Amino acid sequence: MLRALQETVDYIKRKTENFEPEVGIILGTGLGGLVKEMEVSQQLLYANIPNFPISTLEFHSGKLIFGTLEGKKVVAMQGRLHYYEGYSMQQITFPVRVMKMLGIKNLFVSNAAGSLNPAFKKGDLMIIEDHINLQPDNPLRGINDSDLGPRFPDMSQPYNRELINKATELARSVDIACHKGVYVAVSGPNLETKAEYRYLRIIGADAVGMSTVPEVIVANHMALPVFAVSVLTDEGFPEDLQPFSLEDILETAGRAEPKMTEILKGLIASV
Ligand code: HPA
Repeated sequence: MLRALQETVDYIKRKTENFEPEVGIILGTGLGGLVKEMEVSQQLLYANIPNFPISTLEFHSGKLIFGTLEGKKVVAMQGRLHYYEGYSMQQITFPVRVMKMLGIKNLFVSNAAGSLNPAFKKGDLMIIEDHINLQPDNPLRGINDSDLGPRFPDMSQPYNRELINKATELARSVDIACHKGVYVAVSGPNLETKAEYRYLRIIGADAVGMSTVPEVIVANHMALPVFAVSVLTDEGFPEDLQPFSLEDILETAGRAEPKMTEILKGLIASV
């Protein structure tokens, strides 16, 4: 893997004239708008980057974007990769390793998720404090490369406490309601049954989604601090479960996005 990583990093450095990002950003479904706030200097299509998996969802545009945001040099993945698209966990997390090798010091992640907690409503934000991994594979499975990280990475605090506290403070100062909670990752692509939503709530999760956890595991493996936030796009409340609508989820994500963007911008300015 190191050889592939080095090849990819060399290609990107060549194409971006040795751009050295300090911050990495992965934007979730319907949440790509933070990129509009960036002063973009370079964009590379995943399809043109050696060893990069190609995003297959049409509403994910699949670009690595370099530029500045809040005075910080950032690299943003527009279009994240999901397990349900058929990629291996190693493929999904490859870009996180690349961003770390390009020099990022913090990783910021967003996703769209379903609420499981009756107090967390559609359109609300939830800072992820902890997670449960119910995806059927792990990006660290296989021979461990100790140049990248330890065989048994610690996960006692996978989301950076300082960033969580700063984000909470920021949200309060600009009057944005922002919950904190536990995210559970499932493989998808189907949505949950009522019984599954009930089960996920019982095991201790506040929100459910199909992403983020693989990237966070790999970031922790490399000792890269992570901040992650969910936009709650639907309510997985078994007593009153509405049929799933992608249009509705994208519409809710679009409506809540400015709040998320404001918090991420404030955080990025502060690191
Ligand atoms: N379940 C799983 N993934 C999701 C959901 C959900 O309810 N909403 C957005 N992503």
